[in-house]
Amino acid sequence: MCTFVTNPSTMNITFYGHSCFGIEAEGLSLIIDPFISGNSAAAHIDVDGLKADYILLTHGHQDHILDTERIAQRTKAKLISNFEIVSHFGNKGIEGFAMNHGGVMKAEWGSVKMVNAIHSSSFPDGSYAGNPAGFVICIGEKTIYAAGDTCVSMDMQLIPLMGYQIDLAILPIGDTFTMGYKEASIAAEFVKTSKVIGCHYNTFPPIQIDTAAAQDYFQHKGQELILLDIGSSIEV
Ligand code: NI
Ligand code: MN
Repeated sequence: MCTFVTNPSTMNITFYGHSCFGIEAEGLSLIIDPFISGNSAAAHIDVDGLKADYILLTHGHQDHILDTERIAQRTKAKLISNFEIVSHFGNKGIEGFAMNHGGVMKAEWGSVKMVNAIHSSSFPDGSYAGNPAGFVICIGEKTIYAAGDTCVSMDMQLIPLMGYQIDLAILPIGDTFTMGYKEASIAAEFVKTSKVIGCHYNTFPPIQIDTAAAQDYFQHKGQELILLDIGSSIEV
């Protein structure tokens, strides 16, 4: 379990493909939206070697929850998600912290706040999985915003108004099921950060994008769009 002891000034973010990220800081490991075994582009990632103290799930779609059970059963990671998703996995013996929009989970290492996302949310069998969300994740001195699947929304402006200083935003850029990169650029303005990691692109044909054009677009606006190779990391 979590061996977190200090107040880290940095966190390490690893991209595991699609919308899945690992966040590590001083012995604490978080995984967001584990969809690895179903992603051929992430075949080199060892799902059974990943560390996790917590698994954060933004919504119930398969491309966000696929490997949750597999990782949680092995690591005993605790889920952080909405009430419906935590209840669903609770029935399979997985522990979790259930919340809903506006709520915050506080821990010794920081906090996770659930914020709005505009999308849909159902389990692969079609049953109700609550409402989709994004998370504002504070660990030690760093704060990141993981938007989940969403379009850009005016609500994103509330995040800095609530007092969060976002060091980096993880935003979907693949269009079709979420915002595209031009809207992601607006989303970054709304949450007052210029540093973005793109996700939810190029996994499937409908979300194929011109990554060079996307990065160019950000650069012209004085922003940075980081596109990590699957398995690679960045320190924030
Ligand atoms: Ni989705
Ligand atoms: Mn998705």
